[in-house]
Amino acid sequence: MLKAVKSVVTIPVAVKLSPYFTSLANMAYRLTLEGANGLVLFNRFYQPDIDVEALEVRPNVLLSTPQDMRLPMRWIAILYQRIASDLAATSGIHKAQDVVRMLMAGANVTAIVSVLLRHGIDYLHILETDLRTWMEENEYASVQQLRGCMSQLRCPNPSEFERVQYMKAIQTYRPTVAEAPEASHFFS
Ligand SMILES: Cc1cc2nc3c(=O)[nH]c(=O)nc-3n(C[C@H](O)[C@H](O)[C@H](O)COP(=O)(O)O)c2cc1C
Repeated sequence: MLKAVKSVVTIPVAVKLSPYFTSLANMAYRLTLEGANGLVLFNRFYQPDIDVEALEVRPNVLLSTPQDMRLPMRWIAILYQRIASDLAATSGIHKAQDVVRMLMAGANVTAIVSVLLRHGIDYLHILETDLRTWMEENEYASVQQLRGCMSQLRCPNPSEFERVQYMKAIQTYRPTVAEAPEASHFFS
């Protein structure tokens, strides 16, 4: 599809990706070789709910949560300066500091939908003002200065982005609530 589109348009083409490729890095690399000018990470797919009493499938708009930004942020940090395409971050960006995080990971731009549906279009002004304030307080002169400074290639400990860190993370995990019920209660 990308080849077909690129062969007939002269404007830059961005591809919005699913996170569900077997090898995302390989796919991103191949799209870049075929001329994708930008990659958008990631699309959030339509996720209907089930009403267990009415026995109906309920289509409803499921807005993102702040946790949703972790997946695209990790991949942007890994891909930054390893492929030629620009990178756009989308999913779970709700605050100015989320924009900062994505830029630091290596995003060229950030894209938002859920917070605007929640708070209205004027929330864009708040985000922009908060971003400017944060940058001034932390002595960043430009967005370019932020970009990629915490990417895998440039952060102090690149292995923090790798899956093996899960093993370390679980060793420091402590439950914050009462013990979970016995498994038999869970499934009865
Ligand atoms: C109501 C709604 C409609 C959307 N429609 C599209 C669409 O047509 N094409 C698309 O690529 N993404 C669409 N998205 C996904 C958003 O562009 C965005 O990638 C996603 O919502 C994650 O960003 P967010 O966490 O700021 O909401 C839609 C999202 C919502 C909530």
